[in-house]
Formats: sequence, structure tokens, C-alpha cells
Amino acid sequence: MTAGRRAARALLLALPWLVAGLLAGAAEIRPTRDYLSPGLRDAQEDPSRHPGWLWVEEGEALWREGARSCQSCHGDIAGMAGVAARYPAVAEDGALLNLEGRIERCRARHQGAPAFGYESEPLLALTAAVALRSHGQPVAVETGGAAAPFLEEGRRFYEARQGQLNLSCGQCHDDNAGRRLRGDVISNGLGTGYPAYRLDWNTLGSLHRRLRACSLGVRAEQLPLGAPEYLALELFLASRAAGLPIEAPGLRR
Ligand code: HEC
Ligand code: HEC
Repeated sequence: MTAGRRAARALLLALPWLVAGLLAGAAEIRPTRDYLSPGLRDAQEDPSRHPGWLWVEEGEALWREGARSCQSCHGDIAGMAGVAARYPAVAEDGALLNLEGRIERCRARHQGAPAFGYESEPLLALTAAVALRSHGQPVAVETGGAAAPFLEEGRRFYEARQGQLNLSCGQCHDDNAGRRLRGDVISNGLGTGYPAYRLDWNTLGSLHRRLRACSLGVRAEQLPLGAPEYLALELFLASRAAGLPIEAPGLRR
């Protein structure tokens, strides 16, 4: 089959539930855990059954490691409570940073060490360990002031129809939330569970890795991890999740 015919066929298969979704109308935004199977939902809260905790433990060790450790400036990692709920955030120099970007900046500026790199094991581990300190806390990102232009950029990206399937994020994550697609139950597309351990990946992964999968799903261009577009999108997703609990480290199928 040619790419064009494959896309046409995929669209045809998707048509019934798209129409049904439009008839159902947009629903409220719910925590992602509400869309998980009961088994996954329970395991997400149980360190003994959640492989993501291996990364948390590694991150806690990294936090204390070396002469100029994270701990040497920040004290015990418990002091990071609530921080992840405020990210992405605009830094002193006007750049929008997510938690990964914030940690990389400390690494470069305060530790004088080379960047870990996006999706590297130590960066995922530190991000998971810091994010865990906000587990259960309500998302509360700043959306006004310097953050406002980024929020708008993220909103535009979210609402734009994309890829060969010509679908916006909201056509799946608002109009069709709760419905099944290829064995998944479509959630409201929030970033609250990331970094998350996906059984399908067999590892812990970042939100941007998941966003690349959704871009691929609609046959749109996959942007690089940490791309400005994905960062702005991450802020918009967090604004949609305002008041909902941080679930990181999440557990996904
Ligand atoms: C030499 C001191 C120093 C070291 C070492 C350091 N940081 Fe920082 N960190 C800071 C300062 C200062 C800030 C406040 C923002 C700024 O001025 O860069 C900060 C901010 C942060 C924030 C954001 C806090 C908030 O409330 O928004 C996080 C998260 C963070 N650091 C994580 C880390 C991690 C993880 C490491 C180790 C890899 C680390 N830091 C190492 C000094 C340090
Ligand atoms: C064709 C439907 C579809 C489109 C369009 C789509 N996604 Fe998804 N997305 C999914 C499915 C299916 C999953 C996996 C189940 C779930 O968690 O919702 C998913 C997962 C996600 C997740 C992870 C949720 C979690 O907690 O694991 C996020 C975040 C997300 N999508 C955001 C987006 C964004 C942003 C866009 C637009 C750039 C988008 N998606 C476009 C179908 C879609």
C-alpha cells in the first residue's frame, strides 16, 4: 500500500469514533489515573510493583553524589516538595524551562559539569526523584506575565490540526477521552505522570518522548526532545491540568 492509501485507510477506520466523539461533546478534564485499568492504577501507587522506583532510587543517590552535589546547595531532596508542580516555568533569562531543563541548567552553571542529555538515564532518574516530591500535589504553573506568550504558543500547537490524519490533540484528548484506541483508553493527554515507566517502552521515559509518539500517531513531524514547541505545549498541558495531582512517576501500559 502507498503511504497515501495507508493514511486514507487509517482515516476511514478512525471515522466512526471521531464522529461519535463529536456527538458526545467535550467532557471535563480528569486525572490520568482515572483512565488507567485498576491494576495499573494500584501498581502506580505501590513501589514494590512499580519499576519506575528503580530510577527514583538512582536519582536520590545522584542527588547526594560528588563534592559539589545537588544536596550541597539544596539540602535534603525532601526540600524539593512542590517544585515539579510549578514547572515548566520561565527562568531569570526569559527561557521556558521544564524540570529536565532546570536540572540541566544547575548541572552546567552550578556544578560546572557537562549536560546529562535529554532522555539519558541520570537525567530521567533525577527528574523522577525530584518530581516524586510533588506526588499528589496539585499542578500550579504560572501562566501570566512572562509565561503568557509561551502558553499561547502551546495552545495554538494543541489546537492545530496536524499530520496526514489532520487531527488536533484535542480531537483525541478532549472529544474522545474515555474511548479505546488500539488497546489504549484515551486520557485527557496531561503530562502529570511524567517521567513515566511504560511497559511498552520497558523503561522510564520523558513527556517529550510520549509527545513524539502522538506526533507519529497522526503522521506529523516528530520534533526533537526538548524542542521549544514541545516545551510550550508542556506548559499548556500543565495549565489544562491546573489543580489536578502530580502522578509522577507514572505507570503506563
Ligand atoms: C552550587 C549550587 C547548586 C548546585 C550544586 C545545584 N543547584 Fe539547583 N539551584 C541552585 C540555585 C541558585 C537555584 C535557583 C535558580 C538559579 O539561580 O539558578 C537552583 C534551582 C534548582 C531547581 C528549581 C527550584 C525551584 O524552586 O524552582 C531545581 C529543580 C534544581 N535546582 C535542581 C538541582 C539538581 C537536580 C542539582 C544536581 C544535579 C542541582 N540543582 C545542583 C543552585 C544549585
Ligand atoms: C489519534 C489520537 C491522538 C492524537 C491526535 C493525539 N494523541 Fe496523545 N495519546 C493518544 C493515545 C491513544 C495515548 C495513550 C493513552 C493515553 O494516555 O491517553 C496518548 C497519550 C498521550 C499523553 C500521555 C498521557 C499519560 O499520562 O500517559 C499525552 C501527554 C498526550 N497524549 C498528549 C498529546 C498531545 C499534546 C497531542 C497533540 C500534539 C496528542 N496527544 C495527540 C492518542 C492521541
